[in-house]
Amino acid sequence: MTRIVVVGSINMDLVTLAPRFAGAGETLLGERFLTLPGGKGANQAVAAARLGAEVALVGALGNDAFGQQLRQGLLAEGIDLSHTRQLDDCASGTASITVAGGENQIVVVPAANARVTATQVERAHALIARADAVLVQLEIPLPAVEATLRLGQRLGVPVILNPAPAQPLPPAWLRLARCVTPNQHELATLLGADRTDLTAPEDFRALMQRAPCPVVLTRGAEGAWYREQGAPIQQPGFRVEAVDSTGAGDTFSAALAVFLAQGLPLAVRQACAAAALSVGRLGAQAGMPRQAEVAALLARQETPAGWR
Ligand code: RIB
Repeated sequence: MTRIVVVGSINMDLVTLAPRFAGAGETLLGERFLTLPGGKGANQAVAAARLGAEVALVGALGNDAFGQQLRQGLLAEGIDLSHTRQLDDCASGTASITVAGGENQIVVVPAANARVTATQVERAHALIARADAVLVQLEIPLPAVEATLRLGQRLGVPVILNPAPAQPLPPAWLRLARCVTPNQHELATLLGADRTDLTAPEDFRALMQRAPCPVVLTRGAEGAWYREQGAPIQQPGFRVEAVDSTGAGDTFSAALAVFLAQGLPLAVRQACAAAALSVGRLGAQAGMPRQAEVAALLARQETPAGWR
């Protein structure tokens, strides 16, 4: 069984369904409110577990009502929480999410997630040494992210860095990653590009000249563009009915980690299929598919990779 370690955040998502996004200073009547498990780290852990991996999560929760609920949910997915701390003096992380027309807006309050440390990552040394791949994102403090990248490199375990939410990082850190999985905005931030509208293949090709590691650019319904060595490749997306795109990027990164051993082209194709399936239900984790569902979608829809 593939072993995945996720180092990352755990949030309770406070989700409001609205007819549209409110403008500054405007009050809107929403349609529904739900509390749902989320956080980029927890989402990636759940997605990897549903895809059949053995998963451990290194993170932090508050010992409050949200924290207890989130912990139970992760345990029910079979995720090893022996390296997740439950803090008595801190609230659990939250994300206020508005969903309108299949799109979302998110504000995260890290709370306990801000207490994940480099030492905590080092303590998970033995766990990481046994892993096939490690996933890390940017919703925890940067010293913990750096420690994950350095430990992965020292142990020879591939680390997939999902650089979300967007922030610039030292190029030396990127060189430690097996690959990064940004969206368009995150890629522009990461590589210090002026434009965030990376819509043309030429923009991607040009940016890739200064990428210090392989990049897999997620493009929502359009699929992904990636470059390992040589020319960039386009993997078209899969056609699905979108209800809520929250967690689609997390599903993508998780699937990439689970299928990484098959090589980037196959892993990216499966990641695109898994991410497409994940948008079919409300909530970050509700739509995350099992391996058989991904296989069925791949069998149903031909999406040959290439460049247009
Ligand atoms: O990537 C989606 C996640 O971002 C949400 O679940 C929310 O918690 C924020 O962390």
